[in-house]
Amino acid sequence: MWFRKSPVVPCLLLCVALLGPSCGPGGVEEAPSMRGLEVSEFGSVDGHPVKLFALTNDSGAEVRIIEYGGIVVSLSVPDREGTMGDVVLGFDDLESYIADTPYFGAITGRYANRIAKGTFEIDGIVYELPVNNGPNSLHGGIKGFDKVVWEGTPTESGDGVDFVYVSADGEEGYPGRLESNVTYTWTDANELRIDYESTTDKPTVINLTNHSYFNLGDGGAGSILGHEMTINADTYTPVDATSIPTGEIAALEGTPLDFRQATAIGERIEEDHQQLHFGAGYDHNYVVNRDGPGMALAATVHDPGTGRTMDVLTEEPGVQFYSGNFLDGHHIGKGGTPYQHRSGFCLETQHYPDSPNQPDFPTTVLRPGETYSTATVYKFYTR
Ligand code: BGC
Repeated sequence: MWFRKSPVVPCLLLCVALLGPSCGPGGVEEAPSMRGLEVSEFGSVDGHPVKLFALTNDSGAEVRIIEYGGIVVSLSVPDREGTMGDVVLGFDDLESYIADTPYFGAITGRYANRIAKGTFEIDGIVYELPVNNGPNSLHGGIKGFDKVVWEGTPTESGDGVDFVYVSADGEEGYPGRLESNVTYTWTDANELRIDYESTTDKPTVINLTNHSYFNLGDGGAGSILGHEMTINADTYTPVDATSIPTGEIAALEGTPLDFRQATAIGERIEEDHQQLHFGAGYDHNYVVNRDGPGMALAATVHDPGTGRTMDVLTEEPGVQFYSGNFLDGHHIGKGGTPYQHRSGFCLETQHYPDSPNQPDFPTTVLRPGETYSTATVYKFYTR
């Protein structure tokens, strides 16, 4: 961003006369806004062209999202010198997303995270889901919401895109025709806001999230172990050896999973703790501290190298912190970058894993006449 100090009157005259640069507080002349929304094509699936929406805010920071999986394919924000860098992992082309992706940038659903043994019951009816992760069902099954084409339409305000997908009754074993709207908004304050809304015609379960892998150091070439993580949670949901919650809400204090104080992700990740063995690192649902409903700060991540910092705020009760433990270099990402072990981390805001089988967890049941509605914000700045 550039600006020039100038006296108030000349600035006013310039603004009115040329309708050019705008005037900031104190008569500071500001750069013309770079805000824009461009639509292009990002390949096709089964002959259906997939649109890419590039949203640029007034300072030139940009997010690019595609209709396939509602995937955030890039997110460019400044470092402390003002240099833009892409902070999410992903691919250069659609074929790579279709061929083999660990959910890079995608909307995951109808049920993000795990359902034990791929089964649950509502009103006495037992439903069976495809099992795709050990004995469990993960991220909506074989063809979850990350692998379908959403229909994108720019929002009226011009700073967002609304994505719609209608999931048929019985799709991937889930009951009810589920209509979902996911709206991404990219603000001038470098906030990516995601609003989720769904309705159903039969009782079903729902848990939607975004599965972006972040690396605040630029494009995922390096490790995220030096990033400093703070998670606003006193408790979490410990898991069994298949990453299904035991049902307990346990204190984090005294464990290497406690991130109430900013700590480098790598500092304790190799400690001999059963939960770290089960997750092959961090792969746990944290119970977000909150005073009541509404937006609460879930986590803050800071990369000391670039100064880039991200806050995650959410209306959800939980957040899955996943430290990229299953990345192993075989995904060749943007610009030919092999994504190595722990070169990206996820903060997936969510209801707790396996809630449909855990009566004491906040409910994930959605009934006809109700609207599932939730929002999460990823906010970027430097320090
Ligand atoms: C899960 C991980 C899984 C990753 C990619 C995360 O949400 O918690 O266990 O490996 O997604 O599938």
